[in-house]
Amino acid sequence: MGLQISPSILSADFAHLADECAAVSGHADWLHVDVMDNHFVPNLTLGLPIVESLLAVVDTPIDCHLMIEDPDRWAPAYAEAGAGSVTFHVEAAHAPVRLARELRRLGCRAGMGLKPATPVDPFADLLGELDMLLLMTVEPGFGGQKFLDLVVPKIRRARELIDGRDVDVWLQVDGGVDLDTITICAEAGANVFVAGSSVYGTGDPAQAVDALRAAAVEAQPA
Ligand code: DX5
Ligand code: ZN
Repeated sequence: MGLQISPSILSADFAHLADECAAVSGHADWLHVDVMDNHFVPNLTLGLPIVESLLAVVDTPIDCHLMIEDPDRWAPAYAEAGAGSVTFHVEAAHAPVRLARELRRLGCRAGMGLKPATPVDPFADLLGELDMLLLMTVEPGFGGQKFLDLVVPKIRRARELIDGRDVDVWLQVDGGVDLDTITICAEAGANVFVAGSSVYGTGDPAQAVDALRAAAVEAQPA
C-alpha cells in the first residue's frame, strides 16, 4: 500500500467540524479523530455521538484514535458505528488480542497504539492480529507538541518486525508530524501519517495535506 495522510481534526475548529472535514475531502486518505477521556490522557475531547454525526456527513473514512481507559468496553461501538479503523492503546487494553479480533469481526481495521515509552518488541507476536500499529511520536493528549526524535529507532524496529513477518500491517505515526519530521518518519519506514497542527494550523488544509504527501513520497525508501 502507498503512503496515506490522516489529518487530525483535533486542531480543527470544533464549532465547524463538518466544514473542516470537507476541507480535506479528496486530499486526505482518512480523517483522524482523537477520542480522549481525561483518564488515559489529561484531556477531554469528543466521543461516540460526535463520531456518529461525522460519519453521517463526511465522505472520507474515519480513523478513530482512542486515548481512553477500558477500550475493551468502549472501542467496539466505534466499529459498529462505521469507523473504518479503530485504534486502542495497548497500555489501556486488558485483552488486546480479543479486542483486535472483535474489531475485525465488526468489519473494521484494528489498530494498536504505543506511547513513546512503550517498547515494540514485546508485541511482535501480536502483529498478525492487527491492521495497523500506531507509534506515538509525542506523549498523547494534546496537539501542537514537538516531535520526539527518540521514537525514530522504534519506527525502524517496527518496520523490521512487520517486514520480517510478512504481515500487511500499516505503520502509523502521530504527533509533531510536519514537513520536516514526516521525512524522518517516512525514511524510517512509517507509511500512515497523522498531522494535526501542520494541516489545520495552516490557511489551506487541503494544500497542506498534498505537501505532506509529496514530502513523504520523496523520503520513502525505495
Ligand atoms: C495527540 C493526538 C494527535 C494530535 C496530533 O495526542 O493523538 O493525533 O492531534 O497533533 P499534532 O499533529 O499537532 O502533533
Ligand atoms: Zn491521534
